Amino acid sequence: MSNKMRYLTFALTKGRLANKTLEKLEQIGITCEEMKDKESRKLIFVNEELKLKFFLAKGPDVPTYVEYGAADIGVVGKDTILEENRKIYEVLDLGFGACRMCVCGPGYARDLLNHHEMIRVASKYPNIARDYFHNIKHQTVDIIKLNGSIELAPIVGLSEVIVDIVETGSTLRENGLEVLEEICPLSARMVVNQVSMRMESRRIKEIIEKLKNRMNLPQTAERL
Ligand code: PRP
Repeated sequence: MSNKMRYLTFALTKGRLANKTLEKLEQIGITCEEMKDKESRKLIFVNEELKLKFFLAKGPDVPTYVEYGAADIGVVGKDTILEENRKIYEVLDLGFGACRMCVCGPGYARDLLNHHEMIRVASKYPNIARDYFHNIKHQTVDIIKLNGSIELAPIVGLSEVIVDIVETGSTLRENGLEVLEEICPLSARMVVNQVSMRMESRRIKEIIEKLKNRMNLPQTAERL
């Protein structure tokens, strides 16, 4: 491989998504041994042979790194892509991390939604919540931004409903809440910087194609 080849940099979402992403990349021959050392305090990892770099970031920061070109490629949830609304290309649905963005609350809140009442909506995703209520449902609501444990909001009376991610539904069930409306399906996506997509199109397209082909294989050994 030529020495002049520049590094392609990946921004991965810290946590479960990064582990799943590394598994997928490993299946197409992209490995990063350095990253597996859990003791390490290093923030950026290099595969010299393939001229690749990897770093871990908080989900909402991944589209930012990719928009500004600090990373050429990112892997992040569709929820974060919708919320952050950055100028990036979404190039591939990786399939894992599948869940749904929903309006949830106690059963009685269903009526408040049906009658377009002026209600409070708590969410970690104020932009998604605003877009859904204002532009899709044409319902005027008060959006309250929270940073986690969103299910608390209707329980303690901060809001009537929440907009949040539902995966298995057990957090809702255990707190006496239910899905009232479904906004959209979510999963992990690969995103690409708009300039990199042109300048490094051969290398980036090759990665996308390999991942696609791998996903199209009969799923005997793995579940997406
Ligand atoms: C997410 C989400 C729900 C929960 C849904 O929270 O906000 O609370 O997972 O999963 P379930 O349907 O399988 O129960 P997360 O654990 O990411 O933490 P957070 O509450 O800090 O957002």
